[in-house]
Formats: sequence, C-alpha cells, structure tokens
Amino acid sequence: MGFLRIAAAAALLALATPVAATAAEGELTFPPQNWSFSGPFGTFDRAAAQRGFQVYSEVCAACHSVKHAYYRDLGGIGLTHKEIEAIAAAVMVPSIDDDGQPAERPARPSDHFRAPYPNETAARATFNGAYPPDLSVIIKARAGGADQLYNLLAGYAEPPADMKLGDGMYYNKYFAGHQIAMPAPLSDGRVTYADGTRASVEQMARDVTTFLAYIAEPEMEVRKRLGVKVVLFLIFMTGVTYAAKRKVWADVH
Ligand code: HEC
Repeated sequence: MGFLRIAAAAALLALATPVAATAAEGELTFPPQNWSFSGPFGTFDRAAAQRGFQVYSEVCAACHSVKHAYYRDLGGIGLTHKEIEAIAAAVMVPSIDDDGQPAERPARPSDHFRAPYPNETAARATFNGAYPPDLSVIIKARAGGADQLYNLLAGYAEPPADMKLGDGMYYNKYFAGHQIAMPAPLSDGRVTYADGTRASVEQMARDVTTFLAYIAEPEMEVRKRLGVKVVLFLIFMTGVTYAAKRKVWADVH
C-alpha cells in the first residue's frame, strides 16, 4: 500500500506551516526556537502563555496595546471565568455616563484590552516620534514570526565600539539597522512568577512570545485539530476509492 504512505506524506507536508522563516528584514536572520505551538499538531503551552500574560501586563502594557484581544480570550490559556472577571474589573475603561458625559467604568470580560494611549499621535509624542506598534497580531505581521519577536526581546547588547547610536536609541542585534527606539524592556528578575519559574530575560521573552502567539490566533488549536481530521478523512477516502476501483475493475483485467 505504498500509495497510502505517499498520500499521507503529501497531506502532512501540505499541513505543516513553514516553521523556520529565517531570512527576513534584509540581512537579519533569527535563530529558530522550539515552540510548543509550531507544526501541524502544535498547541499553546498554557503555563508559558499565562506567565507571558503576566509579562505583557507588568511590562509591555505600559507602552503597547493588544487592542484586538478581549479579556475573555484569557480563557483559552486556562484562566477561569472568575479570574478573568477579576483581571478585567481591576482595569478602568472609557464609557459614557447616564448624562452622556465621558466617564470610566471597570472593564468586563467582553471588553477589549485597554490601550495605554488614546491614539497613535499621543504615543508618538511620548517616544520622540517612534511608535510602539499594537501587538495583537505582531507575530503574524513580521516575516520572522515568533523567532523574530523572541530574538528581538533577547537581542539587546552593548553596541560595537565603532557605532554611534542616535539620541534615545538602543542597540539591538535583531532590529533592522541595529538601532531601536524601545529601551530593553526585560532584565533578569523583571517580574516575579507565581509558579517559581526563574525570570531570566530569555524565559520572559519566550513566555511573552507564547502569549502573543496565542493572542494573534486564539483559534489556532481548533484549526489544527480540524486540519488533522480532514487529512485523516482524505486518507480514509483515498483507501475506500482505491478498494472500490480494484473491485469494479477486477474482472476487466
Ligand atoms: C517604554 C516603552 C516600551 C515598553 C515597556 C515596551 N516597548 Fe516595545 N516598543 C516601544 C517603542 C517606542 C517601539 C518602536 C521602536 C522603533 O520603531 O524604533 C517598540 C517596538 C516594539 C516592537 C516592534 C519591533 C519591530 O519589528 O518593528 C515589538 C515587537 C515590541 N516593541 C515588543 C515589546 C514587548 C513584547 C514588550 C514587553 C516585553 C515591549 N515591547 C515593551 C516601546 C516599548
């Protein structure tokens, strides 16, 4: 039954998304990492994604929005409805009061994550004209995907002796031109993890990347499970069709 093996191999190849996008943004390459969520059977590491949410909330959220995400999306990385309600309730979001005046109210699970700035202009004013992009789909918006984000976050270093950095710019090995307006957001011990995981720069970078990969595609696991079922069904149907063909043509040959 060699053809079955070939059909299965072809189907799996079609399923597998390109994992190691190494060449992107000109000369930059991003050393590939092992991600729980890559490959046709990948799932999000719940513990890592929850730690990543902590890193996002305590560090990145000061400058970056994830405006397409809802608080209720946190259910997909294992938080209970009660936990999500409490997280949302601690955040004040803009609303309109009974007199039609702008007001604030505690957020609900059905609200979008609150953004740190009212708009892009306000954000640019704070950063010398640079803009901290929305991180909702940053994993998909950059050719290097998760590997690019991880390496960027872990890629701060001392600039080479012959390099002059612009005002308010920082050296980074994995940013085009090696100068970025984002100060190194992570340093060892920047957050304290409840599960006792040591918060090294690499660990926090991995965790927040896992969280942002989830936020970029909360329905990924469902999509992949469906893909696997479709492929199994196609393999099964190929077998049935082949058996039928042999039976129908048995007397002719
Ligand atoms: C103090 C504010 C600040 C914090 C905190 C911060 N950033 Fe940034 N970030 C910026 C600014 C400003 C830029 C724009 C840099 C530029 O264009 O040179 C940026 C750019 C980025 C980019 C885009 C890089 C690209 O390829 O264009 C990503 C991704 C990013 N930040 C992720 C993060 C993550 C993840 C965290 C949390 C671990 C974080 N940032 C924390 C200010 C911040």
